Amino acid sequence: MLRFHEPFLTGREQGYLAEVLAGGSFAGNGPFGKRVQAWLERHTGCPHVLLTHSCTGALEMAALLADLQPGDEVLLPSFTFVSTATAFLRAGAKLVFCEVDPATMTLDLADVARRLTPRSKVVVPVHYAGLSCDMVKLTDFAKQHRLFVVEDAAQGLDASRDGRHLGTWGSLGTLSFHETKNVHCGLGGALLIHDPALLERAEIIWERGTNRQKMFKGLVDKYSWVDVGSSFYMTELQAAFLLAQLEALADNTALRLGQWRRYAEQLAPLAAAGHVQLAQVPATAQPNGHCFFVLARSGAEADALREYLVGHGFQATIHYVPLHASEMGRRLGYADGDLPVTLDGAARLLRLPLHHKLQLADLDAVAGAVRQFYGA
Ligand SMILES: Cc1ncc(COP(=O)(O)O)c(C=O)c1O
Repeated sequence: MLRFHEPFLTGREQGYLAEVLAGGSFAGNGPFGKRVQAWLERHTGCPHVLLTHSCTGALEMAALLADLQPGDEVLLPSFTFVSTATAFLRAGAKLVFCEVDPATMTLDLADVARRLTPRSKVVVPVHYAGLSCDMVKLTDFAKQHRLFVVEDAAQGLDASRDGRHLGTWGSLGTLSFHETKNVHCGLGGALLIHDPALLERAEIIWERGTNRQKMFKGLVDKYSWVDVGSSFYMTELQAAFLLAQLEALADNTALRLGQWRRYAEQLAPLAAAGHVQLAQVPATAQPNGHCFFVLARSGAEADALREYLVGHGFQATIHYVPLHASEMGRRLGYADGDLPVTLDGAARLLRLPLHHKLQLADLDAVAGAVRQFYGA
């Protein structure tokens, strides 16, 4: 079976891990953690980055920093991973699921505007597949309606919109370094803090709710409990592993984009013939080749295509079950048929294998099987 994904490895992870073992600092926020944070700050142009144990953790920090009051509403796509939603639900918000635009499977801004109420407090664009909605429009809209913007850029490292790195448009952004991402450390994440006014409280939340960072900066003699927080750090072992991966990021992105373009070229005739829809990358978007998806003409056709590809040894996979249509979504009051565009897009979506171990000939074989399925 030609696998859908293989965790990336550079061969340099072991050397950095050995340095951690020799150095004796393990828990986090040590030399490697600081190096990785500085690396990400330089690379993304975001003034402050805090490494976390996961993107889920970074989203939970963002939800605490949004300072939600009972009844406050958070606008987010239903087509996303559960962590985008649970982070805000746990912080007491009402979730308002919005439609996605099938051209990119990212937030449909017209639908966000339709669902806006006086209680809307936060909007969460999710940069699905390293693609993005129009962030200029979204941030203007957010400013106009005093919405706090948290970008879920779990899949967005090394991708940008209008020349600005994904995750750095909002007050806060989050990245994932889970092994399914382009680069990883097993499990890991980062909070990108664009608004400097949020930094002090972010550090407190990150430090289990204490002002320990102030002690390190010599601003207090001893640290104590000052706010709600949690143990959000990434360990030094993870940070060392991640540094090796980040140092190979440029090559990795170039390779993935090459693969992404190859699929796009190979499948363009099928799209032109109306058999499948491909993602329409906006002119001002620079993607990162995180994943390549096609939308079949119906959910049943996508299922049949997936079975056909798996039968031919190619592991194609579906993606998120829309959150509003899940068991938990129903408990939150959503019903059959809500958000029809999202239901339709999610049912029709199929992701094709894409990772560093594949050769272009492998991709051609996958694309060939897709064409064969359609008799083309
Ligand atoms: C859009 C999105 N947000 C959040 C997450 C959670 O990331 P993590 O596994 O690092 O907690 C994921 C994970 O795949 C994701 O796809």
